[in-house]
Amino acid sequence: MALEFCGIRVKSPFFLAPMAAVTALPFRLMCKDLGAGLTITEQISATQIARNPDPFTNNEFFTIKTVAQEKPVGVQLFGVDEGDFIEAVQIVQKDFELINLNCGCPAHRETSVGAGAALLKNPEKIASHIEAIKTVTNKPVTAKIRLGWNHDESVRIAKIIERSGCDAIMVHGRTAEQKYMGKANWNAIRGVVDAVGIEVVANGDVTSGESAEALLKETGAKFAMVGREAMKNPFIFTEIKKFFDEGVSWEPSNAEKINAFFEYYDYCEKFNMVKLADLKLKAIHFTRGIEFTKQARVNILNAGSFEEIKNCLQEFEKIVA
Ligand SMILES: Cc1cc2nc3c(=O)[nH]c(=O)nc-3n(C[C@H](O)[C@H](O)[C@H](O)COP(=O)(O)O)c2cc1C
Repeated sequence: MALEFCGIRVKSPFFLAPMAAVTALPFRLMCKDLGAGLTITEQISATQIARNPDPFTNNEFFTIKTVAQEKPVGVQLFGVDEGDFIEAVQIVQKDFELINLNCGCPAHRETSVGAGAALLKNPEKIASHIEAIKTVTNKPVTAKIRLGWNHDESVRIAKIIERSGCDAIMVHGRTAEQKYMGKANWNAIRGVVDAVGIEVVANGDVTSGESAEALLKETGAKFAMVGREAMKNPFIFTEIKKFFDEGVSWEPSNAEKINAFFEYYDYCEKFNMVKLADLKLKAIHFTRGIEFTKQARVNILNAGSFEEIKNCLQEFEKIVA
């Protein structure tokens, strides 16, 4: 039977988590190619969108650019003003299959104005934002939360969100104060899965096929999201699929890792999103695990153009062939 999330057909229960400065279109497409079931844009300010008459033609809003090939894809909004949420959703919804509300970003810039994870201190506000957004869209509206501000209140928060008509909740198993410290609390996510009737997407610390399976098993969730591992290793989605389908621990070859960088570059070029600093980082990330010399990695970081990065990688290809 075809797999559906909030009525959206997805080819895998493993989604790419939204990540600021990482999950722009080229990276999202790559993760889709490698098996991610759903992608979500990084968070974008509802207020900024609401104040811009046509964000899709404005380069400043490149993070919400999407193409048909990417579908299904969600857009993640953050903010405080319900009027802005309503306007923003009306402007962007035509390009997306799902709307997601950020209730988990711990950055001071957001929490100091009551957005992001600050909403966890006042879950009625999350419910009210969801209700407002639902007045202008028929698409699924979802919330991405952490367990609480400084202690686990996830079940109470999730139940309030559920009553707003929210279609699904993504739960990162840490508090806002924890940021990324310690281990994600999968047991707490299980509490949410048991407490609500809507779909829960479990999130936190998937790094392999084994841990992906363990997360679903321990939380009872049907869906999960992968963040930091995907950032360094977009092949994680293929690894997970092979683990589930064939029970094997698969790893990409060195050549596949190097090719992944060139595929990423092609997407960046195609969509006019080439940034040298980003390319260097991706070259380092995607070739993780290949035994290059330290100097080889320094050469990548010192590269002044795509051509120079390419030359470094082609040198590596000879070394690892
Ligand atoms: C660089 C970076 C940027 C992130 N940006 C966002 C964001 O824009 N919106 C959001 O909801 N979560 C954001 N997150 C959190 C991730 O979506 C995810 O919840 C978190 O990394 C835990 O999952 P993981 O253990 O698989 O990394 C970000 C995480 C990282 C590492």
